Amino acid sequence: MTQDIESLLNQMTLEEKAALVTGATAWTSTPVKRLGIPSMMVTDGPHGVRKVNNLDDVASESLPATCFPTASCMASSWDPGLVRAVGEAIAEECIALGVNVILGPGTNIKRSPLGGRNFEYYSEDPYLSGRMATSFIHGVQSKGVGTSLKHYATNNQEYQRFSISSEVDERTLREIYLPAFEAAVKDAMPWTVMCCYNKVNGVYGSENHYLLVDILKEQWGFDGLVVSDWGAVHDRVKSLKGGLDWEMPGPDPRRTQAVVDAVKNGSLDSAALDESARRILRIVMKASETKLGGKFDVDAHHALARRVAAEGMVLLKNNGILPLQSMNHIAVIGKAAQAAHFQGGGSSHINPTRVDVPFVELQKLAGAAELTYAQGYPADDSQQPALIEQAVQVAKTADVALLYIALPGFKESEGYDRSDLDLTRQQVALIQAVSAVQPKTVVILNNGAPVVMSEWIDGVAAVLEAWMMGQAGGGAIADVLFGRVNPCGKLAETYPVKLSDTPSYLNFPGENGAVRYGEGIFVGYRYYDARQVPV
Ligand code: GLC
Repeated sequence: MTQDIESLLNQMTLEEKAALVTGATAWTSTPVKRLGIPSMMVTDGPHGVRKVNNLDDVASESLPATCFPTASCMASSWDPGLVRAVGEAIAEECIALGVNVILGPGTNIKRSPLGGRNFEYYSEDPYLSGRMATSFIHGVQSKGVGTSLKHYATNNQEYQRFSISSEVDERTLREIYLPAFEAAVKDAMPWTVMCCYNKVNGVYGSENHYLLVDILKEQWGFDGLVVSDWGAVHDRVKSLKGGLDWEMPGPDPRRTQAVVDAVKNGSLDSAALDESARRILRIVMKASETKLGGKFDVDAHHALARRVAAEGMVLLKNNGILPLQSMNHIAVIGKAAQAAHFQGGGSSHINPTRVDVPFVELQKLAGAAELTYAQGYPADDSQQPALIEQAVQVAKTADVALLYIALPGFKESEGYDRSDLDLTRQQVALIQAVSAVQPKTVVILNNGAPVVMSEWIDGVAAVLEAWMMGQAGGGAIADVLFGRVNPCGKLAETYPVKLSDTPSYLNFPGENGAVRYGEGIFVGYRYYDARQVPV
């Protein structure tokens, strides 16, 4: 293989190399037909394949694929084998859908629970994050499909993500924000690593020679390619000097020409261009060895998604009411019982092959019990007392009240951070009103990141953290509530009592173009333990 790569490289013209280091489209690499170098396709994301129907329209609907639970749920299983199985299944769907590289896993550390993409990341702890990312990569790549370990590095917020500088001291970088990437690179060697949008100590991730070359390629021995986050390159020549091998999306003729000119006028060493072209060729030729096409087992992957969701769910409180037994009348309250809230917004959004309706899945396991539904809360942030009153009427005559509480999409997504850790006012009022008339109240949460509960947790009998649970989450919730699955998931991130208790509270999300990681290594449980802050 090496010989082939070198001989191919030696046959390529300057113009062909300059074209190769930028994508041909939003999702494909540039082929060199003259030399038989094929194109490679990449697409999102960390918990399912988002292959758009129309390559020229990034906003077009994607092809149906299994939407697995998001990373925060998977990490709570603490089960590397399970995460590997998800990787294998996603690889099978990549092959069927014609995708060479899946743009995941995301393994950024959860510095603040306000982070808008925390649902896509594993943990506040570097070791667990590294183990999860490594397992996912092994799973995917065992099938001849590549991965993209992202977003390297210190991309821990959405606020000004394209420009803000993460100001991190060396020890904190090395002990908290890099180890998960280091472990995954050294143990699983992802085909690609995706650089972050933000700056790290003043230098863009797409031009950061210290991160991309000194650490990633030289100290860790990474031999794959570094791809930019989409639109993260600001100056193609500077990014090549910084070790950024493949700019996405493409094409960008002006930038390609700028690379040709820079080599010709001596401002860019041709060896730097060759090294990036070499790394791209290595991955493109490796990808071409996997035959794409065929089908994937929709039912088997849906069943796996259900198992993973149940394994990741965490029983945060239970006074003994769970598992449900001999219930004749069950009040099922909350919009999320009829419309599953199973994934987050942004680039990871999947078009699922099917979606369990939680209410229906509950009915299947509830035997002869009568189920009565009440919506409980609206889709928006409005307060509607009538919905609460209706729910109270249903709850007080039932044997148990199940409250399906989903954090609304406008609260957490790629692209913006949360401004608080609260449920909506209506949801808090609903939980308080229902639990006031029905002591046997169970709260089932669908959220990607921690919410505060102190206003209502003492009044309810049980709390099940069901996360962004994937398309089969409705069935998984029913499995746990009725005891078909023992909820053995454990939190992979701290749930603070209130926002102002969080370690980054005084320094999040930064100002004047910079965010200081002033808490240093005291992220997550390291902080709460050191300061003995209750959680
Ligand atoms: C997005 C995300 C990245 C994703 C890429 C392609 O902006 O930051 O995670 O893989 O662009 O959609």
